[in-house]
Amino acid sequence: MSSAYKCSRQAPGAGTRRSRGTGNVSHVTHPSNPAATPDLHGVRALVTGGTSGLGFAMSQALAEAGAQVAVAARRRDRLESLADRIGRDRVLVLETDVTDEAQARAMVEDSVREFGRLDIVVNNAGVMLLGPIVDAPIEEWRRMVELNLLGLLYTSHAALPHLLRAAETDPRQVADLVNVSSVAGRHARLNSGVYNATKFGVGAFSESLRQEVTRRHVRVSLIEPGAVSTELITHNRPEVIEGLRATLGPIETMRAEDIAESIVFTVTRPRHVAVNEVLIRPSEQER
Ligand SMILES: NC(=O)c1ccc[n+]([C@@H]2O[C@H](COP(=O)([O-])OP(=O)(O)OC[C@H]3O[C@@H](n4cnc5c(N)ncnc54)[C@H](OP(=O)(O)O)[C@@H]3O)[C@@H](O)[C@H]2O)c1
Repeated sequence: MSSAYKCSRQAPGAGTRRSRGTGNVSHVTHPSNPAATPDLHGVRALVTGGTSGLGFAMSQALAEAGAQVAVAARRRDRLESLADRIGRDRVLVLETDVTDEAQARAMVEDSVREFGRLDIVVNNAGVMLLGPIVDAPIEEWRRMVELNLLGLLYTSHAALPHLLRAAETDPRQVADLVNVSSVAGRHARLNSGVYNATKFGVGAFSESLRQEVTRRHVRVSLIEPGAVSTELITHNRPEVIEGLRATLGPIETMRAEDIAESIVFTVTRPRHVAVNEVLIRPSEQER
């Protein structure tokens, strides 16, 4: 695996570790004023599904806030142009199929090897293949379960030891696992059964894990967007795309940047604040 990342091994935020339990801490490496410009300098992040849509916008937003970002997906050319756009000194390109457990693990380990640690992991890669359950192509179900659930589980399993270590030893003294679900993870709808099942699964897993690690200052956050203009629906069969457009109607959808902004907000809260869930819809989306 080749890397576009030029790594500075100097520990970011050296000498800025905050003291614990004094009630008189100075927030040097983390914004103490939530209204302040988000500052992620010295923070190392990994985003899956970074070649389009939400993942592309998130990678860019995290890097703009100062983070160094490992960006993973399958399309190498897209990863390379993302690195060109954001800056080769800020981006680690990781060509990865997260449905393959070994590749998901290698993605995490390569990030840690290059960056020295991992503070934020965003499980974003996902696919939405809609349509009636009766006579559905089973292959579409398999793709959703393998990516939306298993890919996220493999990545989380590999990343958790590193996130726990970051929360204990690194300057921020907190780490973030952000899982991208959907409004479909809250409300089941006609023609969305298996996509619903995968996103409800993401919600259940995230809440259980949250309870397990929150006292160790790994914050597990669930992002639940409504309709965003991305490539997501283009992977569906033509008749499904037609039906989906008719169901949703002519509404103004969100932009990927709207979701990226909410993720930057989530990971830049002070250490004592955990944003557990963000449900975010276009204003004109009723359900
Ligand atoms: N758009 C919406 O309206 C909406 C609403 C709610 C939730 N979401 C969720 O948001 C997330 C991102 O979706 P999006 O709208 O940004 O869709 P998108 O534009 O289709 O992006 C999906 C990303 O996932 C990557 N990906 C697909 N298969 C992969 C694999 N096996 N391994 C690694 N990466 C893979 C794709 O890159 P490669 O093809 O290069 O691998 C791409 O970067 C998904 O979890 C989706 O369920 C989206």
